[in-house]
Amino acid sequence: MKAKLKVAKEFAFAEVDPRLYGSFIEHLGRAVYDGIYEPDHKLANEKGYRTDVIELAKKLNIPIIRYPGGNFVSNYNWEDSVGPKELRPKRIDMSWKSLEPNTFGLQEFEEWAHLIGSEVNMAVNLGTRGIEAARNLIEYCNFDGDSYYSNLRREHGHSKPYNIKTWCLGNEMDGPWQVGGKSAKEYGALARETGKVMKTIDPDIELVLCGSCGLEMPTFGQWELDVLDEAYETVDFLSLHQYYGNEEDDLENYLAKSIGMDTFISGVVAICDAIKAKKKTDKTINLSFDEWNVWYHSKGEEEKNKNWSFAPHLLEDIYNFEDSLLIGCLLITLLKHADRVKIACLAQLVNVLGPIMTEHNGKAWRQTTYFPFMQVSNYGRGQVLKPYLDVPTYDSLEFKDVPNVEIVSVFNDEKGELVTFAVNRSKEVADLEVSSLDINLGNVIEFQEMEGFDIKVTNSPDKENVFPKESKNIEIDNNVIKAKLMPLSWNMIRVEAK
Ligand code: AHR
Repeated sequence: MKAKLKVAKEFAFAEVDPRLYGSFIEHLGRAVYDGIYEPDHKLANEKGYRTDVIELAKKLNIPIIRYPGGNFVSNYNWEDSVGPKELRPKRIDMSWKSLEPNTFGLQEFEEWAHLIGSEVNMAVNLGTRGIEAARNLIEYCNFDGDSYYSNLRREHGHSKPYNIKTWCLGNEMDGPWQVGGKSAKEYGALARETGKVMKTIDPDIELVLCGSCGLEMPTFGQWELDVLDEAYETVDFLSLHQYYGNEEDDLENYLAKSIGMDTFISGVVAICDAIKAKKKTDKTINLSFDEWNVWYHSKGEEEKNKNWSFAPHLLEDIYNFEDSLLIGCLLITLLKHADRVKIACLAQLVNVLGPIMTEHNGKAWRQTTYFPFMQVSNYGRGQVLKPYLDVPTYDSLEFKDVPNVEIVSVFNDEKGELVTFAVNRSKEVADLEVSSLDINLGNVIEFQEMEGFDIKVTNSPDKENVFPKESKNIEIDNNVIKAKLMPLSWNMIRVEAK
């Protein structure tokens, strides 16, 4: 099979916002306790943070990380999570029916995020709380003057404000499972008024309004229209959440699910722009795809572990090779919408649907999904080029005209390189030709691929079965990249470019 891609600087349509490679840590299961924080672990530093996890997280080059939920935020008292640890109350978390000791909280997360080179994307509780708690929280985090909550932060050892710049106004407020869920009108008005107060305290922040919990929600569409209608002037982003799975065990259809993400994003962009037109405003709302991942392996198991225990095993999906191929397709899809998707968070980072897993008292290890994310996050920076691709297509159970190869190129002018990410969805070799119209190609820097693994094979603490390796199946001929994309493969090609 032949796959022909045309690239040109002229086709650049978006600069990648680094926040596209965000992730997420929620107080859920073993994400925090046993994940990033395990004071008794032999590799924990003096603060109790696992240094093996810090090292793996740093390599993912995550610029922003959402915290503390997720569903958890809807019954979160931020005051419980700051100050001397011995005074912090133990609470029950209603969303995951777990015990929350608050021995790790906002102060520790701020510190941990910076250790991995990340900013915090903080969520406020609009479930059980509202304007007042959000006002106090932003005063605590960002206010530099002489006031009660900023002085409290100083008392807690932080003279300088945290300056958290990206904030989520609640979480999944149309979900029937959400503590303090609301109707669109109620939520839209509360988000607007909360956002107004927050921006009065710090006008430089950006606010994310909750879209619906997912495309399959009966509220989807109308919810977006209604909440935007209420809060358009106050907010900057609308959120999207979606998880994918291969419940049907249908590989062709599974790898095509990124087409569903593509349609979802286009639909939400249209909704934002419809309200823009209705309001006759110049202001554009961008998207924050602040929960995306594969989630299905552990489904059905969580109910038995929601038993009011501490750090239970929840949402611990163990990913196989086909999952990493879909993650590759989803990353490419996010890049193809980089003009409007400015923030995206792989949900989540450690243990809970994590590319990084840990054993209590044991090893930290990398799942199959770690690698495509790491490569795109590190090298998918610069201008995204609109991909003009000629490749055969197929029809699957749910999707028509699925290209056998999913592909996108990013031109990094500063580093002088053209980086192409591709998934070969088919069981045949794809002979890829990337012809460059106005970019002078130099040498191949590297061609990394993941291929040849059993599609159901997983990694484990003892064996990394799935990992990227170098391919030599590449040449530059007359300013054309010629590469072989192996059947069912993930590929990253970096070439010098001017
Ligand atoms: O990421 C896991 C959960 O999925 C989050 O808490 C929630 O927002 C979503 O339903």
